[in-house]
Amino acid sequence: MEMKGLPLDYSSFCLTVFLSLLCFTHGDLSYSIPEEMKRGSVVGNIAKDFNLDSKTLATRKARLDTDGVSKRFIDIDMATGSLIVTETADREELCGSRMSCILNYELILEKPLELHAIVVQILDINDHAPQFSREQINIEIQESVEKGTQFLVGEAHDADIGQNGVERYSLDKNDHFALLVRPNPDGGKYVELVLNNKLDREQQQEHTLLLTAIDGGTPQRTGTVTIHISVLDANDNVPVFSQPVYIVNMSENAPLGTVVVTVSATDADEGPNGEVTYEFNRLSDKAARLFSLNKMTGEIKVDDLIDFEEESYYEMRIQATDGLGSASNAKVVVQIMDLNDNAPDIIVKSLTNPIPENTVPGTEVGIINVQDKDSGVNRQAICSIQQSVPFKLNPSIKNYYSIVTTHELDRELVSDFNITITATDEGTPPLSSSKSIQLKISDVNDNPPTFKEQSYSAYVAENNKPGSSMCAVSARDPDWRQNGTVVYSLVPTDVYGHPVTSLISINGDTGVIHSVRSFDYEKFKSFRFHVLARDNGSPPLSSNVTVSVFLTDENDNSPQILYPSGERNSVMTEMVPKGLLSGSLVSKVIAVDADSGQNAWLSYEIVRSTDPGLFTIGHHSGEIRAQRDISESDGMKQNLLVAVKDNGQPSLSTTCTVYLLISDNLAEVQNLEDMAYEQNSSKLTLYLIISLVCVSTFFVIFMILIITMRLCSRTKPRLSYDGAIAVPSAYLPPCYGEIEGVGTLRSSYNCDAYLTTGSRTSDFKFLRSYNESTLSAEHTLAKSPNDSVESRKPDMGTEGDFNEVSSKYQRCIHVKQI
Ligand SMILES: *[C@@H]1O[C@H](CO)[C@@H](O)[C@H](O)[C@H]1NC(C)=O
Ligand SMILES: *[C@@H]1O[C@H](CO)[C@@H](O)[C@H](O)[C@H]1NC(C)=O
Ligand SMILES: *[C@@H]1O[C@H](CO)[C@@H](O)[C@H](O)[C@H]1NC(C)=O
Ligand SMILES: *[C@@H]1O[C@H](CO)[C@@H](O)[C@H](O)[C@H]1NC(C)=O
Repeated sequence: MEMKGLPLDYSSFCLTVFLSLLCFTHGDLSYSIPEEMKRGSVVGNIAKDFNLDSKTLATRKARLDTDGVSKRFIDIDMATGSLIVTETADREELCGSRMSCILNYELILEKPLELHAIVVQILDINDHAPQFSREQINIEIQESVEKGTQFLVGEAHDADIGQNGVERYSLDKNDHFALLVRPNPDGGKYVELVLNNKLDREQQQEHTLLLTAIDGGTPQRTGTVTIHISVLDANDNVPVFSQPVYIVNMSENAPLGTVVVTVSATDADEGPNGEVTYEFNRLSDKAARLFSLNKMTGEIKVDDLIDFEEESYYEMRIQATDGLGSASNAKVVVQIMDLNDNAPDIIVKSLTNPIPENTVPGTEVGIINVQDKDSGVNRQAICSIQQSVPFKLNPSIKNYYSIVTTHELDRELVSDFNITITATDEGTPPLSSSKSIQLKISDVNDNPPTFKEQSYSAYVAENNKPGSSMCAVSARDPDWRQNGTVVYSLVPTDVYGHPVTSLISINGDTGVIHSVRSFDYEKFKSFRFHVLARDNGSPPLSSNVTVSVFLTDENDNSPQILYPSGERNSVMTEMVPKGLLSGSLVSKVIAVDADSGQNAWLSYEIVRSTDPGLFTIGHHSGEIRAQRDISESDGMKQNLLVAVKDNGQPSLSTTCTVYLLISDNLAEVQNLEDMAYEQNSSKLTLYLIISLVCVSTFFVIFMILIITMRLCSRTKPRLSYDGAIAVPSAYLPPCYGEIEGVGTLRSSYNCDAYLTTGSRTSDFKFLRSYNESTLSAEHTLAKSPNDSVESRKPDMGTEGDFNEVSSKYQRCIHVKQI
């Protein structure tokens, strides 16, 4: 036919089908067979359909040609002329999802050549069930998702077509999801899940639904799939702390790394939403330095040394945050407990330093304060001072103490103290600290200068050189600096009518005493004066000492002839009676020596005589005696040159001439005088008489004097003033006093009174006790020669009621008898 030889490409295939359908009416054959027919099944009878018998078919060599593409599923059974299935055809394999599945064959007959189109349509049978592409569909849905939200599930495929394809879906009954089936634009239906009720992961974490796809074939076939819905956590829970406030007590100085507390918060959410991390929320800088927080575990550890004294209370806010940032807070309160880790601190608040030595005991000299940074009993401190110092601590208000002196202070004994104050607190173990304070004692002029000796004596030879040093006094004053600097001066007095300064001077600094002039032993043998030692304090203190100067004699006076007179122009002649027996006293040379002692021990010696051997002179007495009987033959006029020597070293001597006249009457003397003294002859007799009288008188007076002196020196051995006159005690006012009128106590006074020649009765002012030796400081300097009795009265003290009877030279020995 016109169609033969047409290329069988796809585009023309439809046309061919169309034409062949038309051709059916013109003799082309069409057959329909269901798919999956068994081999050998008869599709139709060609012979019958073409009105041919089976023999003809064979002779005309009838055969089926395929279009070259399609597999040969059918063939002609030559014997019967039937079309039979040679191979099972699977529509789905042959045609897939095409709606019609047509196989085109050509029946070729020869002799004459005929070409007939044979169309075989393969009909679908429901041989496939709907099928989902996966066995399980996993869907993750946030629990927070709103109602009505749709989730694509997918679709089920059925290889069959038409009615045999997927017709509908069904879902398990459940609380949350409904099924929504929508057509695919290219056919088929897909499924969505619609959320009907909100999910809550915390309630149910997973949902499993069974989705069934059902096709429309008969019998129906179904395919199922499991929908696994995981409810994803939405962060709908905040972390919750186990305690809203954590209160921890911990002691200070906890070692680093100590766990203070572990906070913990739980979050019901899952995964990152339930992962809690911790961090400090609000924190002071100090706390931030001290504590660290483990982000993960919530452990709060000590990071630095905690000092109670710095801060005793820390408050921290801790925030727990879950993975998505929901947070909650808790408070951590750390109370630091005190440890006794601070020793008390001693602070000197005030101090009198130096302390004057005259500070009375009990005077407050300083204030100290004790502080302890700890608290409670650890803070209470007790203060003490070492025993050996004259100070103590008096507790004052609160933790103040005053340092008080307990004894009198004496700079001259101890001039500084190191006092150690110790403070101990009451913690366990107690801590203590100590502080040393050096306290100096300042000087007060409380010591008068004291002389090393009670009195000083100087022995000075007379005729000393003016300005030579005689002796030195020395006084010590233990006070400090000018309070202890001693200046010497003379107490102004009169010595034998001379001001003392005209006799001696003193070096104010050294205390060396110099003579101002040369002394004469023959004028006075000793004198006393007072040296005042004064310090430079204000007011100054002073004391005085008596210095006695004893002059020693020097042989500076030659013997002096008292008789016979040594004057040149006065001649004394001694009458010697004739016939004087040997040993008779003829005359006596009287000489004195102003010196004393050996220097005044005189010896006499006849140096030259007219007739040696006639007279001798007593070596010590000076008595001139006849050595032998004087006879007539002896010359009338005898002259003796007598030397008087003292015993000094060297000795001094004087000579005198003794004129002796051996005669019995004055007439002879007259002649003699003419011979000897021409000029004075007329007055010789008168002179002789006068001199005789004089000699006799002088001798008598001299003897009386010597006797008196002897008596004096025996009864008054302490006589020390030249020119003093011994006055019998009967002439003095009675020098005894009434003592308290007690009968058992009888007092008597043995008085020695010495009056200077110049003393007046008005000098008898008062009696001074013999044993009075102390010097009253107040009056040592104020005293002047004009001091009245009244101004001196306080000085007398208890002696004030003694009879005031004595002069300054009167001393009384008070003898007590019971
Ligand atoms: C902490 O110490 C205080 C007293 O300082 C006490 O009252 C409290 O009970 C203590 N707390 C704990 C948790 O030990
Ligand atoms: C006190 O201490 C000072 C210095 O530490 C020392 O020089 C002084 O001698 C001490 N005084 C006493 C009385 O111990
Ligand atoms: C001397 O003593 C006086 C008090 O009598 C005192 O004021 C003064 O400071 C003392 N001088 C010295 C150098 O210590
Ligand atoms: C000298 O000392 C005595 C006591 O020792 C005293 O009575 C007298 O007044 C003192 N004289 C002077 C001038 O200070």
